[in-house]
Amino acid sequence: MKKYLLYLAQSHPNFRKAELESLADLYGIKVDLSNHNENSPFMIVQLENDEQAKKLVKRAVLAKAIYELWGHGDDLEKMHEDVKRNKDKLVGRFKKSRFKFVILQYQGKKKTRKQQTKIMDSFQYLGLEGKIDLENPEEKFTVLETYTIQKSNLEPRPEPDHCWFGRLVQLSVRSDGIVDKYEIAKRPYYGTTTFESELSLVTCNLAQVRDGAFIYDPFVGTGSFLLASAYFGGYTFGSDIDFLTLKGGRPGKKNIKNLEDDFEYYGTHDKFGDVICMDFTNCALRKDMKIDTIVCDPPYGIREGVKVCGTTNMASAELTKTTLIEGQHAFLRKDYVQPKKSVSLDFMLDDLLQFAADRLPVGGRLCFWMPAANDADIPTLIPQHQRLELIHTLVQQFNKWSRRLLVYVKRDEHYNGKTVTREERAHKNNFRERYFSQFS
Ligand SMILES: C[S@@+](CC[C@H](N)C(=O)[O-])C[C@H]1O[C@@H](n2cnc3c(N)ncnc32)[C@H](O)[C@@H]1O
Repeated sequence: MKKYLLYLAQSHPNFRKAELESLADLYGIKVDLSNHNENSPFMIVQLENDEQAKKLVKRAVLAKAIYELWGHGDDLEKMHEDVKRNKDKLVGRFKKSRFKFVILQYQGKKKTRKQQTKIMDSFQYLGLEGKIDLENPEEKFTVLETYTIQKSNLEPRPEPDHCWFGRLVQLSVRSDGIVDKYEIAKRPYYGTTTFESELSLVTCNLAQVRDGAFIYDPFVGTGSFLLASAYFGGYTFGSDIDFLTLKGGRPGKKNIKNLEDDFEYYGTHDKFGDVICMDFTNCALRKDMKIDTIVCDPPYGIREGVKVCGTTNMASAELTKTTLIEGQHAFLRKDYVQPKKSVSLDFMLDDLLQFAADRLPVGGRLCFWMPAANDADIPTLIPQHQRLELIHTLVQQFNKWSRRLLVYVKRDEHYNGKTVTREERAHKNNFRERYFSQFS
């Protein structure tokens, strides 16, 4: 085993370990992440080789890069002592490579050219014989330093807390700008329910969306999760009860964009299967239709209604049954618009878990977001199904409420997990009502 240094993003630090675990599992990599610390962007891991390091980090959204670790210490001097101890077994392969040095500070002030040159010169003892190539180096040797911000003046301390030196093995998609590229405002089509770029991509990593897999979002809206899934190579399919969201706006308007345009824009149109207008609780998909992965953001009832087909107005229901237009039942005509009635989110979630238990292959994942008030009794709110193991509950905190990303894995018939149905959750989770009464 060899030592590698992970350089992580300081965004959503409570999601980072789960994302890496998920990627390690996807690629069959055994790695101990138990020393992960949410307060630090640096983490040393042991891996067999560069291949594993590349796979672990390449598609990570909450990691920036991974380095083969050559040495580290609490200051530059101690770091050099460590590098000198390890250099003989590390330098050999790269002695003649074209290289460049990179110096990175976490929370520190950018070094002047003179300070940088001094640091680079201090590595003479490595005996690198290759050419320095700033444009197209074969290897990037990197010094990483972390600083503490002083409370007194909010400036970094003059000396680093710790220094690392390593050879860059892999930059992540984050370092290639993926989060920015998928920013909502850059898409041709988005709406009030569009899910943010960074966490859509993270959700797809937790769902282990992979090349060629069949991905389904039953509450597709403007398609954020499908767009992110297509980026990771999944074939995407979605449904939504709201025809106008799928279609892209009011009929009759010119130049209407819809979610298919977003796939076109990002060059992933070949990964766009289709979307259909359907009430998920009256599912029209074939019973034997297998789905590899389900990712979604069910309706919370805040920006969009938790609606199903049906009506509470019995008189109008009766009328619908008997009304004939041109000799045909009105409800069988193409232009018939189904009435809709409101239900609670819990109603929808049990259907979602049962659907996942029926359609996913063993090992397949269901990932969805669930809102809760901060003072709610969370464990009692989370739906559970005996064939689905809940492996992560990751919290994104807002002021008076939070949402959780729940990650489930479908298990085989020998697994007998916990069940928490909507009857057991009843009366505990009226999120919509509490949101509008400001959680008082
Ligand atoms: C939170 S939004 C999903 C947003 C989506 N992730 C996006 O990026 O736009 C929930 C969606 O569920 C849809 N929905 C509500 N009730 C539904 C039902 N019974 N069946 C299918 N979709 C439903 C809403 O129309 C809405 O588009």
